[in-house]
Amino acid sequence: MENFSGKTILITGASSGIGRSFAYQCAEKWANLIIVSRKESVLLEIAKDIQSKYSVTVDVIVWDISKIDTPQMIFDEVEKRGLSVDILINNAGFGKWVSFLSQEVAIYQNMIQLNIASLVTLTHLFLPKMLEKKAGGVINLASIAAFFPCPYISVYGATKAFVLSFTEALAAEYSESGLTIMALCPGNTETGFQKTAEVDLKWEPVQSADEVVKNALRAYQNKKIFIVSGWSNKILTSLPRFFPRSLILKIVKKSSEKSVQK
Ligand SMILES: NC(=O)c1ccc[n+]([C@@H]2O[C@H](COP(=O)([O-])OP(=O)(O)OC[C@H]3O[C@@H](n4cnc5c(N)ncnc54)[C@H](OP(=O)(O)O)[C@@H]3O)[C@@H](O)[C@H]2O)c1
Repeated sequence: MENFSGKTILITGASSGIGRSFAYQCAEKWANLIIVSRKESVLLEIAKDIQSKYSVTVDVIVWDISKIDTPQMIFDEVEKRGLSVDILINNAGFGKWVSFLSQEVAIYQNMIQLNIASLVTLTHLFLPKMLEKKAGGVINLASIAAFFPCPYISVYGATKAFVLSFTEALAAEYSESGLTIMALCPGNTETGFQKTAEVDLKWEPVQSADEVVKNALRAYQNKKIFIVSGWSNKILTSLPRFFPRSLILKIVKKSSEKSVQK
């Protein structure tokens, strides 16, 4: 089982929700952190709080990861500070729970850049040193939305299907490397996600970010390739194996449209 003590873990989107919970739970396991997002004051507050509770270092990097050049800038900044990333947690991401044409296409371009392209670039930049050390790994944030097409959250669902497929493929490609490469697939989780997505999912089963991250870190330490967090989500994501895709699509559409603000 991988020990986190003394490791350096870079977490994108650590200012809120699942990323913030990763920061606290990794620090609790004595990992040093590099936390990244756009909100400097929130990241500095989290860094101060974590350093007052645990004997770890917390580096803060403030950047918008939905910009094409940002992953390289993050990598260069990490090198400039003399840090070396053992575990990369590609967590930053957002969705919009809306009918497709209600949004400017720029929103979808940002979403694809953040949820997919920056995640791939960061992985491409940080993986070589992990391979040299034959240790460490990557956790990529997918979703239960990765398991079926998702009407009314179509672009987001497709980005998460990409993340799951990409991560599983990479895990197989580097299975002999000593690294752990894992996709985390949460269902409805109590975070800032719903506000950004413009949706109210009170009717759905919900997990706390802390519960999701606890499950994720346990699965990572057990070298899983992906983890669906929560039993009801495990059942939900197994349905496409037993029913025709056309039926699943109808069911997801019906349950999704309840939440759309028209
Ligand atoms: N909550 C759920 O129900 C759920 C379910 C499945 C998967 N997920 C996935 O879990 C991940 C974390 O989301 P969450 O639920 O914790 O939502 P959240 O509370 O809204 O957190 C999102 C994080 O991403 C950061 N972020 C967003 N846009 C960014 C950008 N352009 N550049 C840099 N950082 C950015 C935010 O920080 P700043 O605003 O400070 O930049 C924030 O720290 C996402 O990938 C999401 O798709 C969530």
